[in-house]
This record gives sequence, structure tokens and C-alpha cells, in this order.
Amino acid sequence: MNILAIESSCDETAVAVVRDGRQVLADCVASQVAIHRTYGGVVPEIASRKHIEAIYGLADAALAEAGVSRGQLDAVAVTSAPGLIGALLVGVNFAKAAALALDVPLVPVHHIRGHIAANYLAFPELEPPFLCLVVSGGHTLIVDVRDYTDLHILGTTRDDAAGECFDKVARVLGMPYPGGAALDRAAAAGSEGRYPLPVARVHGSDLDMSFSGLKTAALNVIHNAGQRGEALDVPGLCADFSRAVSDTLVPRTMEALRRTGYGRLAIAGGVAANSRIRRDFEAACAAAGAALYAPPLKLCGDNGAMIGAQGYYELLAGHTAGQELNAYATRAIDAPLTEPL
Ligand code: KG4
Ligand code: ZN
Repeated sequence: MNILAIESSCDETAVAVVRDGRQVLADCVASQVAIHRTYGGVVPEIASRKHIEAIYGLADAALAEAGVSRGQLDAVAVTSAPGLIGALLVGVNFAKAAALALDVPLVPVHHIRGHIAANYLAFPELEPPFLCLVVSGGHTLIVDVRDYTDLHILGTTRDDAAGECFDKVARVLGMPYPGGAALDRAAAAGSEGRYPLPVARVHGSDLDMSFSGLKTAALNVIHNAGQRGEALDVPGLCADFSRAVSDTLVPRTMEALRRTGYGRLAIAGGVAANSRIRRDFEAACAAAGAALYAPPLKLCGDNGAMIGAQGYYELLAGHTAGQELNAYATRAIDAPLTEPL
């Protein structure tokens, strides 16, 4: 079954063709990062306009790359929540028109479910149940993936997402948006231990996380050095910051894994590309005798293929939508996508 998959929730327009939820025939991405970099973050209005300009040509390019004709498409899957509302609406409207014109099912996909499904593309043998840590620009979630479309949140952040903190600290350090990857590279050259940064505990909720105190502490280090005229050890701070984020994520995720008894941990989302976090999970899973699934970096960030993978399983579960489908800026991972809030 060939699925045309559309993703436009933030600043990447992405169209993919995926066969049977597991095989990527084409995965085309038009990134807007260079445009938003001027502003230090995503400008929603500009993002919507750029999606409109890119999406039609990108869909044609994806079909050509896949060697699949329009008539050979069996369904159209699209991210309909969560994300920037104007940006989502571009993809949703394009997908509706395509599904109508091709007379095939329209399948709405939750963006975070898509991130998790990137693992199905990277690891053909991976099947639910397993545990997944999703760490992206907007979300930090420990998810019990009981089945392809039966997902439950075991832990989450009480304030900022991990990616948000990476981006904020990187921005104050003068690194270009989105700063997570640049901060990761800088950390590689640093040695740890110079800047003790806090790892917060959420009282009474041992699988939940908090990053705002860590973010403030890192920003204070930068500002204090500036005020005192002291040289800042940027690579050292990046290394200590990455360690503190990892020390927040890894023990809670491993505890959740222990409780589920699955012995299989997947990681997903842009921050799952972080080298420190990947290293620490490799060590923790080896020590626990658990299997770790860490997708290649290309599949960690936003892409269309992950939407095609999850879309396939949503279609099998009968989760299709009509032409009245709307987009939603926020939506729980376990809520239906076809009903207004
Ligand atoms: O999943 P994603 O591409 O988009 C969202 O759905 O948010 O995640 C983007 C986030 C950004 O915050 C970006 O800075 C972060 O992932 N990121 C990283 C790394 N690569 C991307 N954070 C830390 N280390 C990295 N290597
Ligand atoms: Zn994402």
C-alpha cells in the first residue's frame, strides 16, 4: 500500500511516499530554517506562506523520486496536530484536495505519533509494545507504546521541552537557530565539571521532568560571566548543560522502562539526535540488558516519511477523516484527531 504523506507542522515542508508503513520510496524536505534564522526563531506567518509555495512542487518531486504515479497511491496521510496552526492548515488542505482528487482515504496523523513511528522505518523488526522517549522542540514525553495506535503517556515535562532549552541556551550563546545541534557540536570540544547545573526533581511524580530551572541556571552562568567580565568556557558550559539534560531524561526513562518490563526502548524527535543523550542511553540500556532503538539523525527531525509510517497503521485501524477535517495546535497523543476539542 502506497501512502503519500504530508508534514507541515513547523518550519519544514515535507512530503514522502511510504510503502506498507515501513519502506521509504521518497522523502523530500524543503527546510525554511535559513529564513527563520534571521529572526532567531520560527515566524508562524512566514512559515505558512513558505509551506504554500513549496508543497505542490515537493509532492510532485516525491512522486517522481518514488517512481509512483498518482493512480498508484492508496491513501494520503497528513499531520493535523499539534503544531503551528497556520502551518498545519496548509498541509491539511493540500492533503484533503489530494485525497478528494485521487478518491483515496484521508488519514490524519498526530505529529508525535509520527516521530515515534520513525523507528518503524529504521528498525523493520520493531513492533509494539515498547517504551519511547520523545524529545523534540515542543515535547518531552515518556510514552508507553502498547500498540501502533494505543499510546499512553507515563511521564512528561512540567514546564519547558528539552529542545526549547537547548535552543534558548544556544541562542543566548550566539549560536544560529535552531541551536540544539550547534550546542551539541560545541559540547564535544568541552570538558565537564566547571559549571555545576541543577537536575530538578518533580515532587510526588518520579517520571515527570522539569527543565526551566536548568535553563535559568545556564542563562545565569552566561550573564554573570558577562557582568563580571570573565571569559566564559563555552564548550565546557555546553558539555555541562548537555549532561544535565541527559541526567534528567535518562534515569526517568530507564525507570519507566523497568516498570513496563518491555526491555525495548526507542528514542525519537529532534533532540534524540543529541550525541550525549544517545551515548548515555546506549550505556544505560547495555547495563539494563535492554535493546535501544535510536533512529538515524535524518529520521529524528521532522520529515514526511514518519507520517507515512504512522499513517499506515492509523489507516489499518480505520482512523480516517472526511473533508471536514480540521487542524489543531494542541492535541493529546491519545485523543482522536477528528473531533473538535
Ligand atoms: O522534532 P523536531 O525536529 O521538531 C519538533 O517537532 O519540535 O525537533 C527540533 C528540536 C530543536 O529544538 C533542535 O534544536 C533540537 O531538536 N535538536 C537538537 C539536536 N538536533 C536537533 N538538540 C540537541 N542536540 C542535537 N544534536
Ligand atoms: Zn517534530
